[in-house]
Amino acid sequence: MSIAVCPGSFDPLTLGHVDVVKRARGMFDEVIVGVAQNAKKRYLFSDAERVALAREALQGIDGVRVELVGGLLADFVRERGAVAIVKGLRGAADYDDEQAMALLNRHLSGIETVFIMGDPALNHVASSFVKEIAAYGGKIDDLVTANVAQALTEKVQR
Ligand code: PNS
Repeated sequence: MSIAVCPGSFDPLTLGHVDVVKRARGMFDEVIVGVAQNAKKRYLFSDAERVALAREALQGIDGVRVELVGGLLADFVRERGAVAIVKGLRGAADYDDEQAMALLNRHLSGIETVFIMGDPALNHVASSFVKEIAAYGGKIDDLVTANVAQALTEKVQR
């Protein structure tokens, strides 16, 4: 049985992420969505909130589960017996950071990273933009799942 880990900040999970997770599931028997911490980022949602939102958004998709990555991604993927890390690429802007992370993770764990090109129809859907649109009261319900839209609206109203 092949397991892959789809890691990310998921602050919050968007429809772009959902697309990548579903396509990863087409390649692997099981996909673990790993909610992790990026040292460069400050988050709007707590670890527990990011996990809960992703879990609810992805519930019912067979062979997909959501877990918190407490420490290093390389340790997590090894402990879960995963054969690959899967990440979505939106374009050149993502490339440099992703290349560095892929090589570091292979150095640390021997595990390869597989890149899936994001669906062009969802290329513009980045968590950072979605948060900004929500903060200014814009329409986000076609960019994220219903539970995420509701949580974002509540968060920015506070
Ligand atoms: O969605 P992001 O912010 O691009 O995801 C980056 C993330 C969270 C996957 C990355 O920062 C990560 O793997 N964090 C866990 C800690 C770790 O292993 N850091 C070293 C990365 S080479």
